[in-house]
Amino acid sequence: METRIVTVVGASGTLGSEIVRALLEKGARVRAMVRATSNRTKLESLGVTEFVVADLMDATSLQRALTAEPRAEAVVTSAAGFTTHSARTKGDNSRTDTEGYRNLVDAAKNAGVPRVILISILECDKAPDVPHFSQKFVTEKYLAEKRQPYLALRAGAFLDRAQDVVALKVRKGVFPDIVPGVALDMIYSPDLARYAAEAALDLPASALNQSVDIRCNVPATGPMVAAAFTRVLGRQVVAKPVFPPLFVGILPLVAWFVPRLQDQVAVLAWIRRGGYVSHESQKQKDLFGELPTIEDSVARYCRDKGLIKPTAS
Ligand SMILES: NC(=O)c1ccc[n+]([C@@H]2O[C@H](COP(=O)([O-])OP(=O)(O)OC[C@H]3O[C@@H](n4cnc5c(N)ncnc54)[C@H](OP(=O)(O)O)[C@@H]3O)[C@@H](O)[C@H]2O)c1
Repeated sequence: METRIVTVVGASGTLGSEIVRALLEKGARVRAMVRATSNRTKLESLGVTEFVVADLMDATSLQRALTAEPRAEAVVTSAAGFTTHSARTKGDNSRTDTEGYRNLVDAAKNAGVPRVILISILECDKAPDVPHFSQKFVTEKYLAEKRQPYLALRAGAFLDRAQDVVALKVRKGVFPDIVPGVALDMIYSPDLARYAAEAALDLPASALNQSVDIRCNVPATGPMVAAAFTRVLGRQVVAKPVFPPLFVGILPLVAWFVPRLQDQVAVLAWIRRGGYVSHESQKQKDLFGELPTIEDSVARYCRDKGLIKPTAS
């Protein structure tokens, strides 16, 4: 049987490597798109052997990567310039998420990529004040305008967070609460990765050209997630604010002097207004089945992180 090839953009990132893992588990051949400076160690340990070097800010390199033979049948992209991962180490910024993504869509269209799976953000179409959210919406619109077949997976906040600080805290009996007292939609990132792999390989073309909210079955507050950890671990876990109230108070002021923080301030304000909650859940169910529950997501997270023993299968 012919092996199906999928190119992953942002493969060296936290979610990107999860997407690679999910694709490999489904038997796909992964072509990891990385930069010359990207750390390939994790990808190599997952068994990736095929790399194409390209940069979202370099249109020629993208064209080369997406026309590599044999052609990939899908491109999944989770690359981001605004995240601390690349910003701290490589000076990336929101140009990646605007110009860079425009370059990627143009290259995909020129190369005739059959489908682009975009990792987007929940409610990004309703958050003009949050730069990195609205930039995702701009890319979604550009994909549609260019008639590049796509599926945008609009994810809620990662239950396990980008830098995966949660396990460390939970071991100490604490669940870090981003915005105390406010419910938001969350998703365990390996679930999102699995959906991205299914979207690349399994969904019919009739499912494409839309945006799908991706989340657990209910929005959750910090104490709700902490209670789920308490039940799963059999010992008490309490929600504690990530940012002390004084810090939250002065953050907008600090952001005047540190422009990079302005995006974070806008995100926190958006969440506080109750913005990070989906108003649509049927599409996720139709495409990927029943929505995961918070408790089940927490249980799988605890198993994956070695916080509880795996159950015998
Ligand atoms: N965290 C959440 O709660 C959340 C919620 C919803 C959606 N998301 C989305 O999830 C996605 C993945 O997040 P993450 O935390 O996994 O990201 P991440 O770990 O910061 O990874 C970013 C990736 O983008 C690559 N990249 C950056 N600039 C690039 C460029 N110019 N050209 C090519 N590649 C470039 C990086 O490559 P290098 O290794 O070379 O730096 C890295 O592989 C993001 O799109 C984010 O918006 C996150």
